[in-house]
Amino acid sequence: MSILLNQSYVPFDLGEINPNTTVLEWLRSNQLVGTKEGCASGDCGACTAVVGELVNINNKDLIQYKSINTCIALAYTLIGKHLITVEGLSEGEDLHPVQKSMITENGSQCGFCTPGFVMSLFALYHNEKSLDSTKINDALSGNLCRCTGYKPIISAAYKSFREKEKGQLDFYERNQSEFVEALNGLKNQKNINLRFNDGNKTLLFDAPSNLNDLSELLSENPSANILAAGTDLNLEITQSKNEFSHIVSVNRVSELKQINEQDSEIEIGAAVSYEEAKSVLVKNWPDLDSFLERFASLPIKNWATIGGNIANASPIGDMAPVLIALESKLKLRKGVSSRIIVLEDFFVSYKKTLLEPSEFIESIVIPMPSNGERLITHKISKRYEDDISAVCMAINVKGIESSSLSVKIGMGGMSGIPQRATELEKVFKESWAKDELLEAAYEALNREFSPFTDVRASAEYRLKVSAGLAKKSSLMLQGYAVEDLAHFSESKS
Ligand SMILES: Cc1cc2nc3c(=O)[nH]c(=O)nc-3n(C[C@H](O)[C@H](O)[C@H](O)COP(=O)(O)OP(=O)(O)OC[C@H]3O[C@@H](n4cnc5c(N)ncnc54)[C@H](O)[C@@H]3O)c2cc1C
Ligand code: FES
Ligand code: FES
Repeated sequence: MSILLNQSYVPFDLGEINPNTTVLEWLRSNQLVGTKEGCASGDCGACTAVVGELVNINNKDLIQYKSINTCIALAYTLIGKHLITVEGLSEGEDLHPVQKSMITENGSQCGFCTPGFVMSLFALYHNEKSLDSTKINDALSGNLCRCTGYKPIISAAYKSFREKEKGQLDFYERNQSEFVEALNGLKNQKNINLRFNDGNKTLLFDAPSNLNDLSELLSENPSANILAAGTDLNLEITQSKNEFSHIVSVNRVSELKQINEQDSEIEIGAAVSYEEAKSVLVKNWPDLDSFLERFASLPIKNWATIGGNIANASPIGDMAPVLIALESKLKLRKGVSSRIIVLEDFFVSYKKTLLEPSEFIESIVIPMPSNGERLITHKISKRYEDDISAVCMAINVKGIESSSLSVKIGMGGMSGIPQRATELEKVFKESWAKDELLEAAYEALNREFSPFTDVRASAEYRLKVSAGLAKKSSLMLQGYAVEDLAHFSESKS
């Protein structure tokens, strides 16, 4: 089972490996040790590499390159893709423009984080035609450095772009058509069924390519672990040191990778990544632009799926409150039967969902926004970027200018599940433009939720900040500029 690796067009066989092996472990055991391990949980960026996948745009095969965290991606999920590591950038002695710029701008001190920064900058260099501070911040959102203070690294990003603007093409741009051809040659690896015997036991990895095969496989193997990108699941391997005996990957199932925009609804396949879903989401709900900016880091958004976020059922996951407020439904599939359920009914208790053995999420169905509908989202976390919510709130308001006002509110971090805030909805509908909203919202939240106290926030803080977010939303609906409300502590500082 092969990938393309760095500058070679010749397929590279991953070899017989334990299916629980991460890309990072695989690289380092193959003497590609430029990619470093810092946290092994997707938080520091030391392990960043770039993965290229074939996409067809306007009937033309192209390769889309994305940065990923190799520490929490499994090696077998790269089959048929192009992996570029820091070893693959220079051409002989000649360093890549981003490497040269990191040197001339003094972007490296102790150097441990440097390969990760170089790879994030390489993805930026490769993917963007022009540069601004937002794009740089986004590209570097998953990379931590304790020594340089970031300024020289940001200068390196600008400097490498000045080289690019002079028309300098790097190896991968110059040789794109050869890589496209080589990746097309790997397409024959359709359904993947790998068996690994470590002497005592056999570990299985299956990656079907279509919905029926996935469904059949899960029906025959109800206890198999479903893997999407693994940004939640693989922490079991890297942090809890567990080993999965049977992994079924959904990330090659073509039907789960599709987005269908119809007149009345948008259907997003469960294996669509955040970056892939972003344009359709932001086009219909512009508020989601800044909200998604707050979701994890770019390497996580490039890889992690929306279906994985919902199925993971974390009470502090960010998409569920938003999708609840948007009155979304889930299409579930088991064997040959499908059922559609309202998303808010999916979450039963802490990390427990309605999913039955062998059942999986096929897609998320979101009604198209009506005229004048306004979605307002809030995320409270300790860090602006790459941090999980303490509290998340999504308020969807329809008919604000008519007598038939409708309010749907989804909340995260307020109980053991992502939950609709029906009491707050009533209060908001009644008093959204009144002075007493803050107090009434606090009382409604206190009636409906008994939030927990943990490292992220106390129960009382969660109640108070949520009431504040309801007030902030009302001010936003009344036309106040968000910048004026920085004291609500959601702003970047
Ligand atoms: C550094 C870091 C930062 C993060 N930041 C955020 C954040 O800001 N906000 C946030 O909400 N989350 C965050 N996360 C969590 C995670 O990235 C998301 O929950 C992500 O969407 C999970 O998707 P995945 O494809 O990686 O799922 P996986 O890890 O592959 O799967 C998660 C769970 O869902 C199940 N599953 C996956 N797909 C299906 C399916 N189609 N049907 C049934 N079950 C399925 C799996 O079996 C598993 O139990 C972060 C994670 C990391 C590592
Ligand atoms: S090692 Fe820290 S993000 Fe991978
Ligand atoms: S150069 Fe030392 S951590 Fe970044």
